[in-house]
Amino acid sequence: MKKTVATIRQQKEAGDKITMLTAYDYSTARLMDEAGIDCLLVGDSLGMVMLGYEDTLAVTMEDMIHHTKAVRRGAENALVIGDMPFMSYQTSVYDSVLNAGRLIKEGGAHAVKLEGGAVVAEQIKRITEASIPVFAHIGLTPQSINAFGGFKVRGKSLEAAKQLIDDARRVEEAGAVAVVLEAIPARIATIITDKLSIPTIGIGAGAGCDGQVLVYQDMLNLYGKMRPKFVKVFSDLGPLAVGAFKTYADETKRGVFPAEEHSFSSGPTEAELAELFDY
Ligand code: KIV
Repeated sequence: MKKTVATIRQQKEAGDKITMLTAYDYSTARLMDEAGIDCLLVGDSLGMVMLGYEDTLAVTMEDMIHHTKAVRRGAENALVIGDMPFMSYQTSVYDSVLNAGRLIKEGGAHAVKLEGGAVVAEQIKRITEASIPVFAHIGLTPQSINAFGGFKVRGKSLEAAKQLIDDARRVEEAGAVAVVLEAIPARIATIITDKLSIPTIGIGAGAGCDGQVLVYQDMLNLYGKMRPKFVKVFSDLGPLAVGAFKTYADETKRGVFPAEEHSFSSGPTEAELAELFDY
């Protein structure tokens, strides 16, 4: 069944947890779609896990459009959400609508995501008015890494918790269709989930959210650099891949690969070739 913003809303109402994973390419999107994942987020985390930057700040609209197009080609049923990169919506409401439109028109996304609460409410409202569904993202917002001073849990003080709940309300009022809650205490995420009528998608926000999202390189242990506390490794593919690469190199060097079954035996006969090339 094709997933839409309406079906994920129904999932919240039915208490059916929403599944979201990040995806950045065609092949992975196909596998996730086959597994029945509801939403594929082309996150700007691609800057780190696909492009090798230290953080997400250098990611461009062109990067996002390029990867969103690939994911969309691989997603038959999943809802594809394109992340708005740093400085593609903070600069003005005009820029936000223009760039959200590019992710839909050029990237083929079904919806966009942007980071921030009350401060981006106007952007959310105007993008929504342009008929583009918006996923909000509050709590730890990686594009604010320099303002926060690192990747830290948000909402630990009473004041910060109040601010988070207020931000969640403001993005809902502005028209967001869902909100990602990143790295916040589980108790606060549950309160937000109960208070909002739109779905909450948690990442490091406990089990009380309406759905969960993970960066796929984290859940498959494919990104060696850092692993946040909230990540569960569902399959340890990183070491398996290194093992396969080593075996390939070893077999190639020893002449074991390619074997008969990996070679083509059709074409001119040995004798014909010998005559033609005189060997
Ligand atoms: O960019 C991303 O992958 C994200 C998720 C961590 C929610 O924003």
